[in-house]
Amino acid sequence: MATPNTPIEPGSWGAVDESEIPTRRDLEAPKPTSSKDLVACYNLFQQEFPGDYRVVYSPCCAYNVSPSMSFPNSRVVYVDLDQKAMATLGTAGYEAHCEDAIRFSPNEPIDVAIILNPSVRGADLVRNLKPGGYVLCNDYHGTATGFRDDTEFEFVGIIIPTRDHQYVADRENLEECWQEVATEEEFKSARFTWGGANYLMAALIVRAVTGKEENVLAEYRKIIEIARKQEQERNAAFVSKNPDAAGWMLSDSDILMFGNDPIPTKLPRKKGTVDDIFIFRKKSS
Ligand SMILES: C[S@@+](CC[C@H](N)C(=O)[O-])C[C@H]1O[C@@H](n2cnc3c(N)ncnc32)[C@H](O)[C@@H]1O
Repeated sequence: MATPNTPIEPGSWGAVDESEIPTRRDLEAPKPTSSKDLVACYNLFQQEFPGDYRVVYSPCCAYNVSPSMSFPNSRVVYVDLDQKAMATLGTAGYEAHCEDAIRFSPNEPIDVAIILNPSVRGADLVRNLKPGGYVLCNDYHGTATGFRDDTEFEFVGIIIPTRDHQYVADRENLEECWQEVATEEEFKSARFTWGGANYLMAALIVRAVTGKEENVLAEYRKIIEIARKQEQERNAAFVSKNPDAAGWMLSDSDILMFGNDPIPTKLPRKKGTVDDIFIFRKKSS
């Protein structure tokens, strides 16, 4: 077989440096992207919480320019550490800054901050938010949970998709967004979340482990408890042989091994999922 630098004889195979094979992603020029669903959510926010939103801020945005579709008359400011993404947005005419969003200031008070999957703590991104200003965020990286626990903010609503692919803004019983399903019916009707437990899968596991077809929620909880105990025992055995591991062993994973099988341990919430849009208002004083 020929090596990369030797001429390839007709009828023979040439060696290939695999790192030089372009992937489909390399071949496609990256573009600013927007999502119809996010635009619908941001539009609904403006209907439900009308205001004069002059400055909209989207830190850690990558290529996502959905806020510009929804706030066409506002100054929409994008910030990300990803140079390629910010250059792409800048070339397309968006106000884009390749900066550390924790330090960046748009030099004007922010009316609305839109923060999705930021990889950093939400509170560090909204220092310039006006009192009375809004944060729209999801909870996939725990951003909404961080704002819920922050006394400077009040949780005023959540935008949830309906079964017919519309969106509704819910302002009632918002504490249920952080409560686990408590009944069989709630578990059955909870929406799907990636990486989380769902009723159908739990029912299969319960049947396989116990032979039972009823009380899936209660039985699945018992299985999670057993899996957690098994993990604690495995971890303790590992740490006794490797004391240095004590500092980094995870004790409360979302996925645990039950025997040889991985099982998700996060039960759905009574209301909403980590992918919904949570709305917080910064308190005025
Ligand atoms: C998981 S992506 C989310 C992108 C987009 N918001 C979305 O949900 O599709 C996280 C983004 O945050 C950016 N990022 C992380 N830390 C940052 C920081 N300190 N300042 C600015 N951008 C940051 C990364 O470059 C990356 O583009």
